[in-house]
Amino acid sequence: MTDVQTFYGRWARVYDVLATLPGVQSWRQEAATALDLASGDSVVEMGCGTGANLPHLREAVGERGAVIGLDVTRGMLVRARGRGQAQLLQADATRPPLAEPVDGLLGSFVVAMFADPRSVVDQWCDLVAPDGRVALLHFTRSERTWARPINAAYRALVWGSSTNKRQTGVTESHDRRVAAAYDRLTDRTTDHREQRLAGGYLRLASGRIEA
Ligand SMILES: C[S@@+](CC[C@H](N)C(=O)[O-])C[C@H]1O[C@@H](n2cnc3c(N)ncnc32)[C@H](O)[C@@H]1O
Repeated sequence: MTDVQTFYGRWARVYDVLATLPGVQSWRQEAATALDLASGDSVVEMGCGTGANLPHLREAVGERGAVIGLDVTRGMLVRARGRGQAQLLQADATRPPLAEPVDGLLGSFVVAMFADPRSVVDQWCDLVAPDGRVALLHFTRSERTWARPINAAYRALVWGSSTNKRQTGVTESHDRRVAAAYDRLTDRTTDHREQRLAGGYLRLASGRIEA
């Protein structure tokens, strides 16, 4: 078992409570909206965790659509069961075993966990059909002036959610990985859109795969 599976397996129940708080739902709704999905489309969430985004994705694709939730941690997927009537897959998002292209792909609070986020985002973009969209949602440092004092809390949050707390420069490494993933999304897509949520601490970006 990897550090990620041990960490999230242990904290799945607590994570689920936090991930489904009422205030968090609006971010998840925005993330699903950023994919411009239509009824009957197919969508995958990489690292879906306990499935908090899946009902929003289902709402966007309707009953005829297909929602896939992929995660490497069994304990997280157990809690995702039944959410959004999704097909759940226990698999590695850095080597996703999807045979068919999808119309939308979401990575929410996950890209900082990859050693090479650029190549993962590349692979994700390759899985999306022409005109489909890819969206990333993640914590980031807020650049708003009033938020500067709160950036200490941001560092604590990043450290707390890190699966490798012995590593030095946890926040810097986290920020580098997130930036690399978002930069790659910008390189690989057109019709790029970006918004900040939660007082600037959440970055939602999306782009369209060129036809
Ligand atoms: C912070 S949680 C995010 C869960 C969900 N996306 C959300 O928005 O609440 C990160 C999830 O990514 C999963 N994960 C981390 N590395 C992964 C990988 N290589 N492949 C698949 N899932 C992974 C973890 O198991 C965990 O469930």
